[in-house]
Amino acid sequence: MNTDSKLKIINAKLVNEGNVFDGEILIVNDRIYKIGSQIEVEGECEIYDANGNYVLPGLIDDQVHFREPGLTHKATIATESKAALAGGITSFIEMPNTLPQTTTIEEWETKNKRAADTSFANYAFMFGGTNDNLEEILALDTKRVPALKLFLGSSTGNMLVDNPDVLRKIFSNTDLVIAVHCEDEGTIRANMQKAVEIYGEDIPMSQHPIIRSEEACYLSSSQAVALAKETGARLHVFHLSTAKELSLFRNDIPLKEKKITAEVCIHHLWFSAEDYDTKGAYIKWNPAVKTKEDRAALWDGLNSDLLDVLATDHAPHTKEEKENKYKKAPSGGPLVQHALPALLSAYHQGKVTLEKMVEKACHNPAILFDVKDRGFLKEGYFADLVVVDINKEHTIEASDVLYKCGWSPFEGTTFKGSVERTLLNGKWVFKEGVVASESAAKALTFDR
Ligand code: DOR
Repeated sequence: MNTDSKLKIINAKLVNEGNVFDGEILIVNDRIYKIGSQIEVEGECEIYDANGNYVLPGLIDDQVHFREPGLTHKATIATESKAALAGGITSFIEMPNTLPQTTTIEEWETKNKRAADTSFANYAFMFGGTNDNLEEILALDTKRVPALKLFLGSSTGNMLVDNPDVLRKIFSNTDLVIAVHCEDEGTIRANMQKAVEIYGEDIPMSQHPIIRSEEACYLSSSQAVALAKETGARLHVFHLSTAKELSLFRNDIPLKEKKITAEVCIHHLWFSAEDYDTKGAYIKWNPAVKTKEDRAALWDGLNSDLLDVLATDHAPHTKEEKENKYKKAPSGGPLVQHALPALLSAYHQGKVTLEKMVEKACHNPAILFDVKDRGFLKEGYFADLVVVDINKEHTIEASDVLYKCGWSPFEGTTFKGSVERTLLNGKWVFKEGVVASESAAKALTFDR
């Protein structure tokens, strides 16, 4: 007896590799079996009529902080991976600034085991570099670790790597992608001191992009790029926030040939310095959200391929933590549930095409990290898909939020474009506003 489970999606507009086309997808078990205009199926088969809606590959978010272990009052792998599925993000790569930090192979293995037990979305974990764990870095299994993460500027979790000799050794000796947070510590400290002299304890949130300044970003990212060029390292610069840094990257070669790449995050594309007065610490991120001109340049950089990947840097903190004064209010905010609706709204505003969005949020993370068989609508690939109704409007309210922290920086915002359904490894894991209670998640694997 044939026990294969079959699902045919009909009446869909498929977005893949620069094209949008009307078609059908046949899924057998956890993989895409066929893509075509009219697919014949024998035997029992579930039919899902997409009613003319768009179907995209599930998004692969290359930068999230799910806070487990140790910071589970803010978030857990279970809560945030469910929110990710509701937002059409089917795979995530998580960061090492948990407690304990993911800076030993033992901790990294423990995190993977925890995710195998509790994650609702496909998962992988970056390994954190420190001033003194080079031996562990060199012993990593590069087929299982997506990349190395280095904080070249301090942020949540005290993971600053500031020893130039160590940096040079790491850059010279690993084949892994080195993903970096770039903000120059000395510049930030000097700016902070000035702000304290002027404002004392009552530093306005609007000072954040002045303290964590354009110069702090540029100095640090230009040094990282210079070191990568000198050593031949494979560098990926996270969350670009300024126009000035775009000059460090190129768009005259395909992604596969690039040794130096860059990411942009949804908050730097959506918010600007004008929003600090109304949103305060709820839009406080590191690097800071900067000027409207920076934001416009980041959209241009995305569309012109200077920027390679679109991600969230989902980094929840509790409301209580955010209600502190400037110096104590932590940086970061939750985004995985609403990044795609925000992007669809940006599409309606003419800022990005659906094809470009899919390239940057689905295809490119898969290419950049060698993710095996995901990130594309392709026969033989895993069936991770998202169905979106690009015209459905909805206003974000705290009550809709699935994040453990219970708030969103988008509260009160009306998006045009919503996630209707998410399919993960061939199973519907989000439909009619509800995330399935059973997990269909798998560990990401890497084709290296
Ligand atoms: O704003 C941020 N929050 N930037 C980071 O680099 C870390 C993150 C966090 O973990 O809170």
